Amino acid sequence: MIIWYLCVMKLVFATANLHKVKEASQILGPGFELSIPADYGHPEDIPETGNTLEANSLQKAKYVYDAIGMDCFADDSGLEVDALDGAPGVYTARYAYGDIRFKDNLDKLLYVLDGQTDRRARFHTVVTLIIDGKPIQFQGYCEGSIGLKRIGTGGFGYDPIFIPAEIPVFQADGSWSLVPNTDGLAMAQLPDGAKNYISHRGRSLRIMAEYLATLVK
Ligand code: IMP
Repeated sequence: MIIWYLCVMKLVFATANLHKVKEASQILGPGFELSIPADYGHPEDIPETGNTLEANSLQKAKYVYDAIGMDCFADDSGLEVDALDGAPGVYTARYAYGDIRFKDNLDKLLYVLDGQTDRRARFHTVVTLIIDGKPIQFQGYCEGSIGLKRIGTGGFGYDPIFIPAEIPVFQADGSWSLVPNTDGLAMAQLPDGAKNYISHRGRSLRIMAEYLATLVK
């Protein structure tokens, strides 16, 4: 038990989004003890004023490292739609802000793509890890398309209108295998474990975990 305790890595996740915290905890597993800035008296919104996912991810991680002084990581995600030349991209969280025609971001994206047959898109995440003050970034992608309407109640954000190109199928031996998403299931219809296996966040955080494992060898 002592060995297990010593192997647990404490990291602050620079977010106030509890959906992301739940996903990151499931993805990283019991070898990581995650906390958030609010646990240290920093409940404020973390600034993200950059023009790229890389810049925003770095800005969020540095903000938390400077404020709290602990090893930490941040993620910044965007939805890149081919027919919109990669938009909304870094502006995904603010896509409908200030546009009174739409009740939310999903409503605006469905409107903008109305009649569009090329609906290919991908989620892109950039994770910035800061260990001992040194930042390093990891990328994760999830290919798919934008659906015609909202489906499902799981996940968060754009999950009800994002149709992953591939979905995981649970195998008898406990592993997952990827198959084409022929039923057009939305990300919001997948169980947590399945979303985490294919998601942009899952992929980038698993690469981060592999990197951290090389540090403790
Ligand atoms: P941010 O990384 O918190 O800045 O997220 C940017 C935007 O992408 C927000 O509108 C989020 O709701 C959305 N988003 C981020 N990750 C996901 C996800 O896993 N599923 C659906 N939407 C997401």
